[in-house]
Amino acid sequence: MAPLVGIKAGDFMGPSGGDHVEYPGKLTWSVLISCVLGAMGGLIFGYDIGISGGVTSMPTFLEKFFPSVYKKEELDKSTNQYCKFDSQILTLFTSSLYLAALVSSLVASYATRRFGRRVSMLVGGLIFMAGAILNAFAVNILMLIFGRILLGFGVGFATQSVPIYVSEMAPYKHRGALNNVFQLSITIGILVANVVNYFTAKIEGGWGWRVSLGGAAIPAIFISAVAWILPNTPNSMIEKGELQQAREMLCRIRGVSDREIEAEYIDLVAASEASRRVQHPWRNLRLREYRPQLVMSILIPALQQLTGINVVMFYAPVLFQSLGFGNNASLFSAVITGLVNMLATFVAVFGTDKWGRRKLFIEGGIQMLIFQVAVAVLIALKFGVSGNVTELPEWYSIIVVMCICIYVSAFAWSWGPLGWLVPSEIFPLEIRSAAQSITVSVNMFFTFGVAEVFLSMLCGLKYGLFIFFSVFVAIMTVFIYVFLPETKGIPIEEMRVVWKRHWYWKRFMPDHDDQQVNGNSV
Ligand code: BGC
Repeated sequence: MAPLVGIKAGDFMGPSGGDHVEYPGKLTWSVLISCVLGAMGGLIFGYDIGISGGVTSMPTFLEKFFPSVYKKEELDKSTNQYCKFDSQILTLFTSSLYLAALVSSLVASYATRRFGRRVSMLVGGLIFMAGAILNAFAVNILMLIFGRILLGFGVGFATQSVPIYVSEMAPYKHRGALNNVFQLSITIGILVANVVNYFTAKIEGGWGWRVSLGGAAIPAIFISAVAWILPNTPNSMIEKGELQQAREMLCRIRGVSDREIEAEYIDLVAASEASRRVQHPWRNLRLREYRPQLVMSILIPALQQLTGINVVMFYAPVLFQSLGFGNNASLFSAVITGLVNMLATFVAVFGTDKWGRRKLFIEGGIQMLIFQVAVAVLIALKFGVSGNVTELPEWYSIIVVMCICIYVSAFAWSWGPLGWLVPSEIFPLEIRSAAQSITVSVNMFFTFGVAEVFLSMLCGLKYGLFIFFSVFVAIMTVFIYVFLPETKGIPIEEMRVVWKRHWYWKRFMPDHDDQQVNGNSV
């Protein structure tokens, strides 16, 4: 391939004469379909998040695999509500998946860089399918946990590759919206799982949990098929030396002529050249000039999990049961929170490119904080510290569920989608794959942590658990306000401009491209 020595990403300035390039391009059908289908990779992740909580609240499932928890729940009605489900092995069932996802996202980093984004998605879908089948036919706890680990491997591959795929395909002005479809598909997955659980729990004979767990094979087949037919991203083609194909693909997905994609094409090739020179992306990530990206790739996913969202997502049915709801009402309430979660994500899909990332982050943070405290107060008033309660008046339960829903909706248009979008759009190509793996593994590590400790924390901290998470929500909202620059409307290969202009991060940026930055501090 002809090397484009001496050309830096960003050498082509946009017609606006602004401080970053404006590439021409429309939102074509081709890009819309590719991004939406690609983003559906989130389905497998979501299905999984939603399915385990419901399954672990099904008596026949508990009786078969976790008899001690079953006995505690069924036979000892007077037990403290806060500690009813506190079991290490039950927790391991939920959390093992995330540990596996953590490990596999590191492997996926190599595959995504070397073989392309689609290959990682395909591998993710296939491994996930194997896990679903194993789980559906599980006869002992070993099969169950081994199946969960396979599911985790699948999730690691998918979450590593999908956000990169979408960010690279999307025209930068619509990158936020298209990338948020990934989160939307996670929420669809969660909701479908909640609904499936609601119905399978009613299956006579008590084998409904097999349908719930085996049902994961359907989204897996879907995303494997999608990954098979999707086109590669132009970046990925350039990385593999397929220059002509990359050019044609760019024309096709941007819907403009060969001449008009020139600026973007040159920037992509330049970025790929820079990336090729980087032998050790992981080592590079430690360079001072990547400090802002490194910090964000760690803190954003960690803080996303410290919102406490998965307490609701994983354990909503268990949580509602602990609050004194009946079996059916608990599963139904989980469907409601799942529905709110999905619908509220549309606000992010349509709002991120309009209002910007920072506004959503900050509004969402404040709303979460208020309603988390409200939930804590409501639970404290009824359950106190003892947790001994036999019946909750219906109106009271409705208020609790409403507060939880308002909290969930805030997450759904802020930290949920942006926790994936922002990291995926701030990394330059040369470290993109490695940095995305850090984001995924940190996310999975904290998801694992929350899943692991939630039940014992509920037992120990009681209603204080919600206060615990709200403290983090307060911290993260201040963090965003002070440290996160706005990334809306900036082409992905031009992102260094935002750090250059930031009052704090600019000190980490090398001087050599000073002349390109003339904006005010963000
Ligand atoms: C998070 C998941 C969470 C889900 C809820 C995702 O962005 O990564 O941990 O369960 O949102 O919708």
